[in-house]
Amino acid sequence: MAPKIPVIIDCDPGHDDALALIMALASDKLDVRAVTVTGGNQTLAKTLNNAKRILSYIGKRPLLARGADKPMFRELTIAPQVHGDSGLDGPVIPQADYPVEPLPAVDLMRRIIAESPAPVTLLATGPLTNLGILLTAYPEVRSQVGRISLMGGGLGGGNWTSAAEFNILVDPEAAAIVFSSGLPITMCPVDVTHKAMIMRSEVEALRAQGGRVSVFAAELIDFFFKFHTAQGFPGAPLHDPCAAAWLIAPELFTVQDLSVTVETRGEHTTGMTLADRRPWSGAKPNVSVCLDVKREELIRLLARCCAAYGD
Ligand code: RIB
Ligand code: CA
Repeated sequence: MAPKIPVIIDCDPGHDDALALIMALASDKLDVRAVTVTGGNQTLAKTLNNAKRILSYIGKRPLLARGADKPMFRELTIAPQVHGDSGLDGPVIPQADYPVEPLPAVDLMRRIIAESPAPVTLLATGPLTNLGILLTAYPEVRSQVGRISLMGGGLGGGNWTSAAEFNILVDPEAAAIVFSSGLPITMCPVDVTHKAMIMRSEVEALRAQGGRVSVFAAELIDFFFKFHTAQGFPGAPLHDPCAAAWLIAPELFTVQDLSVTVETRGEHTTGMTLADRRPWSGAKPNVSVCLDVKREELIRLLARCCAAYGD
C-alpha cells in the first residue's frame, strides 16, 4: 500500500467544508496532520467553533488551529445566506470542548511542513488567506509543499459575482499569491463543482444507509439545498468535496493544465480567475484545472466515506 499523503486542511466550515472534512478524515490515503480555520462562510469565531463541533461529532482528533479572521488587505465577506447565522445551520450537533493549538494556523502549518519527512499537501476549501500569509511569511516552505488542492474560482464566471467565486473573491490578493507561487496546484472551480451536484434521491439514500455521520452529512446537505434550490439549482453543488475527492480519487476528474491569473483590481472583475486558453499565447500553465467529474462516482465516494465511520 502506498504511504499516506500528509495533508493539512484549511477551511471555513461551512456545510460543504464539513463534507470535505468527513471525506478526507475517512480516507486511508490521507494522513490529516492538522485542520486550520479561516474566516469566510462565517466569522472566524464561528468557523472555528464549527470545526470543533464537526471534528468532535465525527470522532476525529487532528490538531486544530486558529487562522486569519480577515483577508490580507480587505474586510471579511461572510455568507450567512448560504450557511446560516452559525455557519453550520441545520444539523443539531453539540458544542464541543475541542483543544485549539496555541500556535496560530500559519505557524502550525510551517512547523508541520518543516518537520514532515514527506512533502505536505494543502487542501484548501475556503478563502486562501492562511495560505497567502504562509507563503509570504515563510517562503522556504515552498520546497516542502507537495501540492495544493483547492476549491475556488470559475473559468466561465463566478457564483458570488458574475465574475468571481466566493473563496477567491473574499481574498483575491491571497489567491494571487497562491496562484503565482509556482507550487503544483489542482483547482476545483465552479465549472466542475456545479457539475458535482447531489440530488434529493441521493441525499435520501445517504440518510438511509444509516450511521451518525451519514445522517449528519444528509442533514448538512438538506440545509445546503435550501439556498441552492432557491437559486434554481436541481440539487446541491458539492463544492469543497471536489477538492478532497481529487486527493482521494483523482481518476474521477478530467483536468486541463492552464495558465490562470487572479484579478485583484477590476471594478467589476475583482476575484475573477482568468484562464489564458489562446494556443498561440505561449502562456505557461500554473494550475491543473478540474473541468469535469464522474458525478455518480463522486456521490458513491461520499457515501463510502460516510459509511466508514460506522454506526
Ligand atoms: O463558492 C463555494 C465556496 O465558498 C465553498 O468553499 C463554500 O464553502 C464557500 O466557502
Ligand atoms: Ca468552504
